[in-house]
Amino acid sequence: MISLFKNKPKLRDLIPSNSVDIHSHLLPGIDDGSQNIEDTNFLISKMNEIGFNSIITTPHIITNVWDNTEKSIKEKFDETKTLLDKSLELKNFNFASEYMLDSHFIKRLEHEKLLTLKDNLILIEMSYLSAPIQLYDIIFEIQLKGYRPILAHPERYLFYHTNFKEYEKLKNAGCFFQLNLLSTVDYYGKNIGKVAEKLLKNDLIDFVGSDIHHKNHIASFDKKVTLKNSSILEKVIQKNLFFLK
Ligand SMILES: [Fe+2]
Repeated sequence: MISLFKNKPKLRDLIPSNSVDIHSHLLPGIDDGSQNIEDTNFLISKMNEIGFNSIITTPHIITNVWDNTEKSIKEKFDETKTLLDKSLELKNFNFASEYMLDSHFIKRLEHEKLLTLKDNLILIEMSYLSAPIQLYDIIFEIQLKGYRPILAHPERYLFYHTNFKEYEKLKNAGCFFQLNLLSTVDYYGKNIGKVAEKLLKNDLIDFVGSDIHHKNHIASFDKKVTLKNSSILEKVIQKNLFFLK
C-alpha cells in the first residue's frame, strides 16, 4: 500500500550538476523566449541552479514568424555573451537553431550552412497541426546534405499519439528524438506526459532538452515527475553529455 503513495522525485532532483542542455530560447528579443538581457541572465542563473552549466541555446527560425538567419543568430549570441552576468556558472555556452520544417527550410538547406548542435546534428521541429506532406523527403534531403536531424519534442505532436508506429518509422528514417524534460511533469498536459513515458519505455529517446522560454518553465522544474519509473529518464539525461565531447 505504502509503495502506491511513494513520493515521486521533483524534475530538478533528477538533473545532476554539470548537465548539458541542448534546447532553449535564451537570446533576447529574437523569438518567443527571453525578451531582454535581464530575462536572459535570470533564466541562465536559474538553469545553473537546476544543474545545467553547459548550454547550447536554439532560437527559432520560422519563416514569417521568427525570420532569424544563421548570421543574425550568431551576431545576437556574440552580443549577448558580452552582456552576461559574470557570476553565471557557464562551462560552455553555445548556440544553434531550432529549424521549423516549413516551405523555406529546403531552400535554406540548399543555400546556407546550417547551425549544428555538434558535428552534423541539427535540431528540427514541425507544426503542431500536421507533419509536412513531404516529411520523409525532407529528412532524406537533410541527410543527403550531410546533416543528421534531431526532432525536438516528438511527444508534443498530437497527430502521432494515435499512430505510435510513425515514431518508429521516423527513427528508422534517421531521425534522433529529443524529449522535452517538462513533458515528464505533465507541463503540456497529461496525454503528452503519457506519450513521453511510452517513448522513454520503448527506448526511442536519444536526448533531452529544457526548451526553456520563460520563468514559468523554470518554476515547473519544481514539479514532480509523473513517470512510473524515473530511472529511464535519468539515463537519457546522461546521454546529453555526448554534446560535451
Ligand atoms: Fe523550442
